[in-house]
Amino acid sequence: MFILGIETSCDETAASVVKNGRLVLSNVVSSSLRYHRRFGGVIPEIATRHHVENIDRVIFRSLHEAGLQIEDIDAIAVTQGPGLVGALLSGISCAKAMAYSLDIPLIAVDHLKAHVYSALMQERRVRFPFIGLVISGGHTRLSLVEDFDVFKVLGDTLDDAIGEAYDKVAKILGLGYPGGPVIDRLAKKGNPHAVRFICRPINGSLDFSFSGIKTAVLYYVKDNGSRPVRNRRFSYGARITDHETRNISASFQEAALSVIVKNSIKAMEKYKIKTLVIGGGVSANSRFREMITRESMFRGFKAYFPPIDLCSDNAVMVAGVAYRLYKKGIESGLDITAAL
Ligand code: KG4
Ligand code: ZN
Repeated sequence: MFILGIETSCDETAASVVKNGRLVLSNVVSSSLRYHRRFGGVIPEIATRHHVENIDRVIFRSLHEAGLQIEDIDAIAVTQGPGLVGALLSGISCAKAMAYSLDIPLIAVDHLKAHVYSALMQERRVRFPFIGLVISGGHTRLSLVEDFDVFKVLGDTLDDAIGEAYDKVAKILGLGYPGGPVIDRLAKKGNPHAVRFICRPINGSLDFSFSGIKTAVLYYVKDNGSRPVRNRRFSYGARITDHETRNISASFQEAALSVIVKNSIKAMEKYKIKTLVIGGGVSANSRFREMITRESMFRGFKAYFPPIDLCSDNAVMVAGVAYRLYKKGIESGLDITAAL
C-alpha cells in the first residue's frame, strides 16, 4: 500500500511516499527556515505562505522520486496538529482535495505520535506499552504509549519546550537560529561543569520547566559578560569570549538534558517498562544520545532513536504511522480541520 504523507505543521513543507508503513520511497522537505532566521524564531504568516507556494512542487517531487504517478497512491495522510493553524490548514486543505478528487482514504495524523513513530519505522513488530518521549521545538512530553493512537500523557513542559530553550539560549549567546545544532556542536568543546545552572523536575512529577534555566543563562551573560580578546557583541550589552560561549553552552545543555533523562527513567520505573522511544528535533542531539545510551546499558532498558534525517519535521513519519492507523481501521472524514 502506497501512502502519500503531507506535513506542514511548522516551517517545513514536506511530502513523502512510504510503502506499507516502512519502506521510504521519497522524503522531500522544503524549509522556510532562512526567512525566519533574522527574527530569531518562526513567523507563522511566513511559514504559511511558504507552504501555500511550495506544496504542489514538493508533492510532485515526492511522487517523482518515488517513481509513481498520482493514481498509484492508495491513501493520503496529513498532519492534523498540533502546530500553527494557518500552516496546518494549508496541508490539510491540499490533502482533502487530493483524497476527494482521487477518491481514496484520508488519514489525519497527530504530529507528536508521528515523531514517536519515526524511531520505529524499521521495526517489524512493535511491542506495547512503551514510554514515548517527544523533545522538539514545541514539546517536551513523556507518554505511556499503548498503541499507535493511544498515548497517555505522563509529563509535559509547563512553559518553554526544550528545543525552544535551546533556541532562546542560542539567541542570548548570539549564535543564531535554530540554536539546537550549534549549541550541540559548541558544547562538545566546552566544560559542562563550568557554570552551575539548575534545572530540576517539578515537585517530584514528570513535568518539565525550562524557562528558569533560560533566564539563568541570560543573567549569567549579563553579569559575567564584558571580557577582552576576540569578543562578540550581544544585544544584551554583554561581551563574551568564544571559550565562555562554549562553556555556557555545555553547562546549559548538561543541566537541561539531565532532567529529561531523569524523568524518562522515572517514567519507565513507575510503569515498570523497559522501552523508551524518542522523537523530535532535539533527539538528534549527540550528548542526549550519549546520555541515554549510557543509562540504557547501565539500567538494562532499550532505547530507540530516529535516524538523524527523521528527527526534525518530515512527512515520512506521517505516511508511516498513517499505515498503522489505517490497518486499525482508522480513516478521517473530509470535514476534518486543524487540531491545535
Ligand atoms: O521536531 P522539530 O523539527 O520541530 C518541532 O516539531 O518543533 O524540532 C525543532 C527543534 C528546534 O528547537 C531545534 O533547535 C532543535 O529541534 N534541534 C536540536 C538539535 N537539532 C535540532 N536541539 C538540540 N540538539 C540538536 N542537535
Ligand atoms: Zn515536530
